[in-house]
Amino acid sequence: MIGDKKVLFSGMQATGNLTLGNYLGALKNWVNICDEYECFYSVVDMHSITVRQDAATLRKRSRELLTLYIAAGLDPEKNCIYYQSHVSAHAELSWILNCYTYMGELNRMTQFKDKSAKNADNINSGLFTYPVLMAADILLYQADVVPVGIDQMQHLELARDIATRFNGIYGDVFTVPEIYMGKVGRKIMSLQNPDKKMSKSDENPNGSIYLMDDTDTIIRKFKRAVTDSDNQIRYSEDKPGIKNLIDIYCATTGKSSEEVEKEFDGKGYGDFKLAVGEVVAQCLKPIQDRQKELLNDKAYVDGVIKNNAEKASYFATKTLRKVQKKVGFPERIR
Ligand code: TYM
Repeated sequence: MIGDKKVLFSGMQATGNLTLGNYLGALKNWVNICDEYECFYSVVDMHSITVRQDAATLRKRSRELLTLYIAAGLDPEKNCIYYQSHVSAHAELSWILNCYTYMGELNRMTQFKDKSAKNADNINSGLFTYPVLMAADILLYQADVVPVGIDQMQHLELARDIATRFNGIYGDVFTVPEIYMGKVGRKIMSLQNPDKKMSKSDENPNGSIYLMDDTDTIIRKFKRAVTDSDNQIRYSEDKPGIKNLIDIYCATTGKSSEEVEKEFDGKGYGDFKLAVGEVVAQCLKPIQDRQKELLNDKAYVDGVIKNNAEKASYFATKTLRKVQKKVGFPERIR
């Protein structure tokens, strides 16, 4: 708790082009629930270097992501929006937690297996211990709740296990975080292959809607989305392409799948695809415009970066000092 509010933590990587999956699975939920919590939203640049990055591009994308958080509706006066690398407590707690995490646990992480397969020439130890840094992110702020998409579930369960193990040895040091997922949008699939998650790293750009795509591109990609041939807008597991489009429509508009089925009763896939494209484009346009303004307002954004890094450091250091004491590090002499 901070004051009378529970704490929320979440983060995103500024690697590649953010997709509609990132928005509907995470960022949109962040905005919907932020007033209920004391929130920390990090641009997790330390996670990004587990895969080789071009330095200038990473720096540029990190700023774009930070401004996107604000443009999407997170007020930086009320929400702590900051770069992970500006708060050194993340690295320090991560090291300590590494010593309380088993190789066997990390070996089971499916994302590690996937990313190792994709980056066979650079399977570095950071990629392996990535979930421990994630646990440190969350536990540093004593987060009660962590809103993510379904692909992060295994990492969050590990964070809960690490916290519980640590508490078992040293008493109640960490809040054990709950996972929060929206009702719809927790797993948005590729428009070209509805069995696969929509992903920043997909080689086929037509499979993903990027948050910076313009209206024409968005509508074109939806028109080309892979569906089946029965031409009925029905929400069913055996119609993964249409199910994904209905999920996108619902997550964007707040409507239920039954309402969508009714709305498009008697209409064909062409009409529906166009409608999905239009609502998505309408939803993203004001965010894109606001982000452009923010990227031009250097002084304002720099102020946010500085103030929020200080705020995050204050809370993170409090937890870090407690942990350092518990594990037996000598006291600092003032
Ligand atoms: P990242 O950057 O891959 O994704 C950011 C958020 O977007 C969600 N997401 C999706 N949701 C629905 N459908 C999709 N197709 C889709 N693709 C991505 C992810 O679930 C995530 O919530 N390791 C994390 C970042 C992180 C973090 C943390 C998150 C670092 N530390 C602490 C929470 C708490 C990551 O790489 O997310």
